[in-house]
Amino acid sequence: MLSQLVYVSNRKANCSKEEIDRILRSCQANNASLDITGVLLYSKTKFIQYLEGDSRELLGLYDKIKGDKRHEKAMIISYSPISTKQFPSWQMAAKEIAPTQVTFRTAISPEHKKVFDQLLLGQQQSASSVLGLLKKFF
Ligand SMILES: Cc1cc2nc3c(=O)[nH]c(=O)nc-3n(C[C@H](O)[C@H](O)[C@H](O)COP(=O)(O)O)c2cc1C
Repeated sequence: MLSQLVYVSNRKANCSKEEIDRILRSCQANNASLDITGVLLYSKTKFIQYLEGDSRELLGLYDKIKGDKRHEKAMIISYSPISTKQFPSWQMAAKEIAPTQVTFRTAISPEHKKVFDQLLLGQQQSASSVLGLLKKFF
């Protein structure tokens, strides 16, 4: 079943810029064959990843990612079935963010800002509000 999963985690100090590049190369190498797409936002201390694809592949990949030593304390923010892919052409779009001075592609409403702040705190969010927010970055 086509599903989406969003989690936040803490980027560890050992995760340098080079490691981010390495992660993105893994995404390129693996996600297409799993038919998984998504977006990865990262700051100096956080990751927010949105993944979409078949639920079994999705959970399998999340299990692998969760155990990755370049981050810790991964927390699922939302996981639910979806009817269509939201980022069908991105194996993994990535963007660096600075939580204190986030730059969005378009203006962001106070409601979206609230969702963003709660997301960074690891609080559960509805898929639609997280998606509405993530789309503002790309
Ligand atoms: C925040 C974060 C996000 C990641 N996202 C993905 C991903 O979407 N796809 C992927 O294959 N690996 C991802 N990885 C890397 C995996 O944990 C793992 O290192 C990688 O899949 C191993 O690839 P390999 O089996 O080709 O060696 C991510 C790692 C981190 C820390």
